[in-house]
Amino acid sequence: MKAAQINKYGGYEVFEINNDAPKPTVGEGKVLVEVYAASINPFDKAVRAGFMKNMMPLNFPAILGGDFAGVVKEIGEGVTEFKVGDEVFGSANIFSGGSGSFAEFATAKARNAAIKPKNITFEQVGALPLVGSSAVQALEEHMNLHNDQKILIHGGAGGIGHIAIQLAKTLGAYVVTTVSGNDKDFVKQLGADEVIDYKNEKFEEKIKDPSTGSGQVFDAVFDTVGGEVTNKSLQVLKKGGVLVSMIGEPDAKFAEEREITAIRQGTKVNTKHLERLAQLIENGKIKVNIAKIFPLDQIQDAFKYQEELHSRGKIVLKIR
Ligand SMILES: NC(=O)c1ccc[n+]([C@@H]2O[C@H](COP(=O)([O-])OP(=O)(O)OC[C@H]3O[C@@H](n4cnc5c(N)ncnc54)[C@H](OP(=O)(O)O)[C@@H]3O)[C@@H](O)[C@H]2O)c1
Repeated sequence: MKAAQINKYGGYEVFEINNDAPKPTVGEGKVLVEVYAASINPFDKAVRAGFMKNMMPLNFPAILGGDFAGVVKEIGEGVTEFKVGDEVFGSANIFSGGSGSFAEFATAKARNAAIKPKNITFEQVGALPLVGSSAVQALEEHMNLHNDQKILIHGGAGGIGHIAIQLAKTLGAYVVTTVSGNDKDFVKQLGADEVIDYKNEKFEEKIKDPSTGSGQVFDAVFDTVGGEVTNKSLQVLKKGGVLVSMIGEPDAKFAEEREITAIRQGTKVNTKHLERLAQLIENGKIKVNIAKIFPLDQIQDAFKYQEELHSRGKIVLKIR
């Protein structure tokens, strides 16, 4: 089969196309999928660059990639949830028991997959597993976000952020988001109520309650940015509020003093989260924005685009 492999850690130039890579074999609890589309996440870059090599060392040649959408070709022992021919989406991440999605075929654990909604393309749904599961886990499980609450979403034009804005509006929340100035219209169209240009404005200064002058106005903050944004965000939460960070390490002591729940999330791409996303797609509540689609052969260009250019939403590899 054709696969994009790496034989060493490094920049996007380490990806090589191998037309004779061995097709993965399906094991117990897994499905073999013909991959129609895969998407690129910052995690794939981190693995490729060797940032995770102490925690998660690779065996070379390695096939990276988690997000996939495709068609089930074989099912392993014990799999009852799927049958051959099912259209599915999920994660084939090698650190979650998969074989890597940047290839014509991939295996994935059945518990990391779900049936693809009918009203969406393979490219769109293949962009959703990690970013969509991140938003669902944060907003619905950790924050229990609901009507009339106020949320600040950092990085609203990114992969996770653009799904989180739509989900927060569906849940009835008032949404403030931080983006680069040229993404303001994009996030307004997604439903954001207020937009802060992070390059020219300080969110922690801009968002004061006009009646009380207090800066502690949010019930929840979703931080997809990290760095100094994480702990500055603790300052804008009300007592009893919740911060979920995808990347930062919140100051636990400060959070406890302010009676704030601060969580560093590790996203689970599982059937439960994927089925919730499928429901949201079917009901027209969320849409995936694809910045650009590349063929698998151009995987180096796809990563270059992701890493060097400002993109809205997701970069997708079309494989079939
Ligand atoms: N813990 C986990 O399980 C997990 C799971 C998934 C993702 N993550 C992490 O979560 C982060 C976000 O993922 P993603 O897929 O959404 O990435 P992404 O698509 O690259 O989006 C990041 C967004 O953040 C914006 N941004 C950068 N600096 C900002 C700032 N200071 N204030 C506001 N916005 C800012 C970027 O805008 P510009 O382009 O304008 O700079 C971009 O739109 C990544 O670091 C990823 O590794 C963690």
